[in-house]
Amino acid sequence: MEVIIQPNHHQIASIAANIIRDAILKKPNLVLGLATGSTPIELYKILVRMHRDDGLDFSDVTTFNLDEYVGIPLDHPQSYHTFMAHHFFDHVNIPKANQHIPQNISDNHEEFCASYEEKIVCAGGIDIQILGIGTDGHIGFNEVSSSLASRTRIVTLSQSTLEANAIHFNCDVNAVPQMALTMGIATIMEAKKCLLLACGTSKSQAIAKAIEGPITSMVPASILQMHPNTVTIIDEAASSMLSEVEYYNRSYANMLSL
Ligand code: PGA
Repeated sequence: MEVIIQPNHHQIASIAANIIRDAILKKPNLVLGLATGSTPIELYKILVRMHRDDGLDFSDVTTFNLDEYVGIPLDHPQSYHTFMAHHFFDHVNIPKANQHIPQNISDNHEEFCASYEEKIVCAGGIDIQILGIGTDGHIGFNEVSSSLASRTRIVTLSQSTLEANAIHFNCDVNAVPQMALTMGIATIMEAKKCLLLACGTSKSQAIAKAIEGPITSMVPASILQMHPNTVTIIDEAASSMLSEVEYYNRSYANMLSL
């Protein structure tokens, strides 16, 4: 796994945005897997600026979001539909028909989840999947103990996720939806490239376990060790519990000098 350590959040987001821009320039009909949460907000800001100032064209791009809460309306201020519109979709030219976010439109979650997987396959598979990481090592809403072979499905959120996300619900943990739809771990693993982003000391333990610990469903992100093309881009605070920092830095410097 390639590990890139940067001084701050903006530099992480810039590197991720440049990777995505170069991929769109090479393949205008890129299929992007998108994440929500505080980590990718700066990345979306930079992509919006690239669209507005440099004419980066998203008109052929297709997107699939990782997850969405179940039990709140799609237009709820904290829904991931609202998040994506606010931070990204309202500011770039991705056709609405190309934007996909899991949504709880009927009680038949299984049918919806199967059709979401099918749409990803029909689009040609995800070229680049953006990922954040939970303090417990989750990716998407694949909580600790999720099957490493899981596919898109409905899940119950862990107490640590409910507590982490309460900040968006007036700090009321009881207001956070208990359930969500999420791409599975096997779904994520089929992406051709994964960009795992993390900032801050609160992520340092999860990052150390994910990158240098054993592969286990108790740290869902650790499965990325088995992914042939994952780039982890983190700040110094998030890297503080890694043991191989010198190697990652030297390896990145060598890649830059090629
Ligand atoms: P964050 O969330 O970007 O808000 O830290 C990441 C996650 O929980 O997956």
